[in-house]
Amino acid sequence: MNHVRNFLSVYDFSADEIYDTLLRSAVLKEERRKSQSASLAGKKIGLIFEKSSTRTRVSFEVGIVELGGHPVFMSSRDLQLGRGEPVKDTAMVLSRYLDGVIIRTFGQERIETFARYFEKPVINGLTDLYHPAQILADIFTVYEIKRKPEAKHNGARALNDIIGDTLKKLKIVYFGDANNMANSWVSLQAMLGFELVLAMPEGFDIDGTVRNESEKRGGKFLISHDKISAAKNADVITTDVFISMGQDEEKEKIDKLRPFIIDGHTVENAKKDVIFLHCLPVHRNEEVAEDVFDRFSAVVFEEAENRLHVQKAIMEKIF
Ligand code: CP
Repeated sequence: MNHVRNFLSVYDFSADEIYDTLLRSAVLKEERRKSQSASLAGKKIGLIFEKSSTRTRVSFEVGIVELGGHPVFMSSRDLQLGRGEPVKDTAMVLSRYLDGVIIRTFGQERIETFARYFEKPVINGLTDLYHPAQILADIFTVYEIKRKPEAKHNGARALNDIIGDTLKKLKIVYFGDANNMANSWVSLQAMLGFELVLAMPEGFDIDGTVRNESEKRGGKFLISHDKISAAKNADVITTDVFISMGQDEEKEKIDKLRPFIIDGHTVENAKKDVIFLHCLPVHRNEEVAEDVFDRFSAVVFEEAENRLHVQKAIMEKIF
């Protein structure tokens, strides 16, 4: 058993560490236009990807280079892992070469097993259960847009209260499947305490482990089967693809989810200054109407850019 720090879910940070990460993300975003921090100088960081990725892979890889580290990308197809070498053995070997890894894989237990035997820190780059790096980029994007003017990014400790105040007052509504993005919103809500509504069809529910982990921390969220009442007075509306990576294209499931598309009528019921987020890739006219996506595309692509800044801040904390 090793005792290094990992980031396998949002719960690996305290609320204050989440706020610190958002503040540091803002500084790193600003710094990128000028000088660069060298906080990962000399570190060799592995990226083990068992699933496809555009944003996560490139933003982590670029982030490592920008912080002075050296990324080593490994698709599971190229590793013996992809031919059945146990996760445990892979972790024990890579531990001797690398200073940390980012992993995109299937079950959460797979990354947890890796973290148990890898003697350096591990960051979750998406599992079937959670996508914690994405959710911190999402809440950073929300904070950038909704923050009060007095919340200047000067790194002062008291700013955590201002960030907390801004975020706690928001109503965030997620529409769609009970997948790793829904779970990630549930975990973030338990840490930060905003109002969270999950609009999904009858018969859909949040994974029992995710629910328990949230309840243990005093988390609260509402599941609604009525899309329009869920959208009422929302500050943020968000969704994800209806069929996640690795899932079968079940027609029955898509048919149930189809009414939960974010369309113009959904947006009309939210607050006037509502913002729409999507982690991408998007299926236009499936989970979100094309005109809604186009209206908010500047926010969505800023959210994608923010992956880079936020992950640099996470890597500074963890590696
Ligand atoms: N949002 C996200 O994780 O994108 P990728 O699958 O392209 O990494």
